[in-house]
Amino acid sequence: MASQILGGKLEALSKQFRYFSEKVYPGSSPLYQQLAAKIAEDHEILTLASQARKGELVPNLFFGAIHFLLLQGAKHPLSAFFPSVSHSTSTDGDPYPYFRSFSLENEKRIRPLISSRRVQTNEVQRCACLLPAFGQVARESPKRPLSILDIGASAGLNLLWDRYGYDYGMGRKYADPDSPVQISCTLRGELRPPIPEVLPPVESRVGIDLNPINVRNPEEMLWLRSLVWPENTRRAELLQQAIGLAKQEPPRVVAGDVLDVLPDVLSGLPGDTTICLFHSHTVYQFPQELRDRLSSLIVEYSRNRNLFEVSFEWWRGKDQPLLELSRVHDGHREEEVLAYCNPHGEWLQWTRRDHP
Ligand SMILES: C[S@@+](CC[C@H](N)C(=O)[O-])C[C@H]1O[C@@H](n2cnc3c(N)ncnc32)[C@H](O)[C@@H]1O
Repeated sequence: MASQILGGKLEALSKQFRYFSEKVYPGSSPLYQQLAAKIAEDHEILTLASQARKGELVPNLFFGAIHFLLLQGAKHPLSAFFPSVSHSTSTDGDPYPYFRSFSLENEKRIRPLISSRRVQTNEVQRCACLLPAFGQVARESPKRPLSILDIGASAGLNLLWDRYGYDYGMGRKYADPDSPVQISCTLRGELRPPIPEVLPPVESRVGIDLNPINVRNPEEMLWLRSLVWPENTRRAELLQQAIGLAKQEPPRVVAGDVLDVLPDVLSGLPGDTTICLFHSHTVYQFPQELRDRLSSLIVEYSRNRNLFEVSFEWWRGKDQPLLELSRVHDGHREEEVLAYCNPHGEWLQWTRRDHP
């Protein structure tokens, strides 16, 4: 019924909030799930949310802005419903009236946030899914160190994947058991991923991002924190631990659109290394034309130098994200699905049968 009153843009936005309420937040953020369902029917809040920067996932951006203001210390009864702010787990009653009044009272602070910031969630736990893919690359190209390149790196925290420790519930830890960043990941299914016993050495690591996030800037770190959903305490802890590690020696992230800067970044990589380019939760948001251009650029580059591409993306129409490995050699791409993954890297289901 509400959709009849809404204009075309608001109608699309209403559908997006409903989709997030039904498909994205369940199981991970009951609060956002509940709020998003009501926003989908609320003309005034949808009008405010429609000020969001073009091309962004509006529900995540809008909730990120609200969360940011609450974490900054905005005083409002709404904060009682955010476990990350109130540090309480008991939230009785309907949060929506509080959410609505907070949004309308703070319109002037929300609008600049949603029109200038991006959804740049840097999810460290995804490294648990990337690790076996990097291991696979190293097995196929032994005796050479890796040059790791992250497209859509955000703060570059996933470039430090080899400095974290991993527990896949197999009775031992992988990578660095003494790291302050310890990641757990559940293995699903019957097949076991080939997690490397000894990590492949990394000679070079570099990221690319439209807007690199500076781990030494407290306000940018608060924005990253705000993008983690309020109930996801463990994700927030991992983020803070990884930021602490990254601050000691921040990874290099080149600013720019990947299509503009990738050729120069590739040509600056050291020779005699295996190039392993990766992207996670970035390329699936590109329009098809940009995706095709990126793919052609990578395939063309392989005429000079072979490379591997690891993709951890949630392609449209798929129930869950896929972990894929492409061997891009001599102008040809050979693509293979390695695993299904939880969007935040909480579980991994390896599907590749034969791993020599
Ligand atoms: C959702 S974040 C994912 C960050 C990280 N890959 C992860 O999985 O934790 C997507 C990132 O891609 C970046 N991005 C989007 N389009 C881009 C483009 N055309 N070129 C470079 N970076 C881009 C955004 O700025 C954002 O930081």
